[in-house]
Amino acid sequence: MRKIVVVGSLNMDVVIETPHLPECGETVSGKKIDLVSGGKGANQAYAAGKLGGNVTMIGAVGNDAAGETLLYNLKSVGVDVTGIRQMENGTTGQAFIAVDDNGDNSIIIIPGANGLVTKELIDEKADIIKESDIVIMQLEIPLDVVEYVKEMAVRERKTVIVDPAPALPDLPDHFWRGIDYVKPNETELAILTGRKLKTREELIGGARVLIEKGVRNVIVTLGSEGCLMVTEDTEAFFCPYQVKAVDTTAAGDSFTAAFALALSQGKTCGEAVDLGQKVSSVAVTRKGAQTSIPTMEEVKKMWDE
Ligand code: RIB
Repeated sequence: MRKIVVVGSLNMDVVIETPHLPECGETVSGKKIDLVSGGKGANQAYAAGKLGGNVTMIGAVGNDAAGETLLYNLKSVGVDVTGIRQMENGTTGQAFIAVDDNGDNSIIIIPGANGLVTKELIDEKADIIKESDIVIMQLEIPLDVVEYVKEMAVRERKTVIVDPAPALPDLPDHFWRGIDYVKPNETELAILTGRKLKTREELIGGARVLIEKGVRNVIVTLGSEGCLMVTEDTEAFFCPYQVKAVDTTAAGDSFTAAFALALSQGKTCGEAVDLGQKVSSVAVTRKGAQTSIPTMEEVKKMWDE
């Protein structure tokens, strides 16, 4: 099995269950509040580890209780956390997540230690990247650091996966060059390309914008509509696995992790998309970020038996 490294964010999620998400200026009475381990990077590392991958994470937490909990959680599923620095001068990242009765959410993040990840930290941990085969990143650490890791990974001929969330408009063209797989959802793809993407043709066109900028494969997750995969000369839609969603937090993260895990096991891109869909469809039936991630046995029981 090939080695995976996740370079990215760790957050303690403050999750509020609410009947509906507040409109601008509206006050809503919430039902419940919970603390859950999260962060897009940590969710992906946790999920890939829990599913049976060989995973190391690079990132930063504060020297505080939230940071300890996040490290403990990753270690509990076999993730190597030697790439994570406990910062003396920063607090662990936080995410404030409102989840409504339909399982939809809105998220505000306070980066904390994630914002203190630097190129120097990456240089210090470069051996981890060099010894890995697959490098996964998101956009919750400083963008110049993401770019720096991508350049290093491309130079070292690693398989590079970028989950471009939170999506940013107007990323420079060179950002995309050399990335093997980009996995936005349809909203993120619209932000990344500055286009309205309603129809299937528009979605394919949006994905092709990234292909033209140098991405090899674009996988667009479409929630309950399934998924789209676009390469230089092909495109394919994948049907969804139908479930009743209670919380979509970390749906994208669990997809990315399962996708990377499948690649690490020598599966094809299509097979990796299929596993991504199976795992994320289980995750949305459970509450929270890392609390929603299934084992491979649970995934097989739900979809393959
Ligand atoms: O993708 C879900 C994650 O986004 C949450 O766990 C939260 O921490 C934010 O990073």
